Amino acid sequence: MIEKINSLKAEIAQLTASNAADVEALRIKYLSKKGEVSLLFNDFRALAPEEKRALGAPLNELKDFATNKITELKESLENVESDADALDMTRTASPIKLGTRHPLSVVRNEIVGIFSRLGFTIAEGPEIEDDWHVFSSLNFAADHPARDMQDTFFIRRTPDVLLRTHTSSVQSRVMEKNQPPIRIICPGRVYRNEAISARAHCFFHQVEALYVDKNVSFADLKQTLLYFAQEMFGPETKIRLRPSYFPFTEPSAEMDISCNLCGGKGCSFCKHTGWVEILGCGMVDPNVLDACGIDSKVYSGFALGMGVERITNLKYQVKDLRMFSENDTRFLEEFTAAH
Ligand code: DAH
Repeated sequence: MIEKINSLKAEIAQLTASNAADVEALRIKYLSKKGEVSLLFNDFRALAPEEKRALGAPLNELKDFATNKITELKESLENVESDADALDMTRTASPIKLGTRHPLSVVRNEIVGIFSRLGFTIAEGPEIEDDWHVFSSLNFAADHPARDMQDTFFIRRTPDVLLRTHTSSVQSRVMEKNQPPIRIICPGRVYRNEAISARAHCFFHQVEALYVDKNVSFADLKQTLLYFAQEMFGPETKIRLRPSYFPFTEPSAEMDISCNLCGGKGCSFCKHTGWVEILGCGMVDPNVLDACGIDSKVYSGFALGMGVERITNLKYQVKDLRMFSENDTRFLEEFTAAH
């Protein structure tokens, strides 16, 4: 009998099952009333007392072993089956949440796209700059307030290293290295020493455009501005130029567009004027051309510069500038539909 116990045990150890019906069949084969293990117990009852003493323990062990094995097989199948139940065949193959482009990138790309359709190409320059490219070459007088510590983040005083306060610095870098025709668009981040609030930040973004060639006129500037405004804000958009002052342009102007919220009728957004200001521009001052190695007697040019946050606010009415740099996904996800 001990051989029978051992051979059954070896047999049971090898058992496998691929579904619940297999397990049930095995349970019946070994553990049901007429199963092989139960039959051994019947034989056991007929044994002499000393044999019973010797075989009782191994026989009980066999029964436990068989019961555990059947339970084990059942459980391993249950796990597989519940995984199979959890398989949702309707799910997408790659359930990866797509990110969204930052609203400032969306608007910057749109601005760059409009100017590239006019033949402007992207130029970039460093954010860590020197006085020459940010101020001196652009005709800022030595005592111009923009050089003041109040506005500019200086990294070092002598020789001066500073964070650019505008992307106009890219103009002088490009003009120093290239002769006309020059037609560039310069997107980038700029820095100013301002207290952070809903309306001001110590860093923001600008896009600068520069066109230098023979016979570039104010009419070219105006038509470029009109094209830009209508591409950006719709074909109904009107523009108006107001005289202004920038050290690097002469004459200088600021451009307003008809309020894109009320269509120029007047609302609280445009303070009931029907107009909102969007950028600065002008004819490149001859002093700037000469400072950058371009003959101002032969060439002329126009330049313009705008704040990307400003344009984004006009398009999407973002009330608080700080939203742009907080990376709150609830805000960013609102731009999923923008491209
Ligand atoms: N650099 C000016 C600023 O930061 C913006 C600007 C005005 C750029 C007139 C220009 C321009 O190129 O012609 O406020």
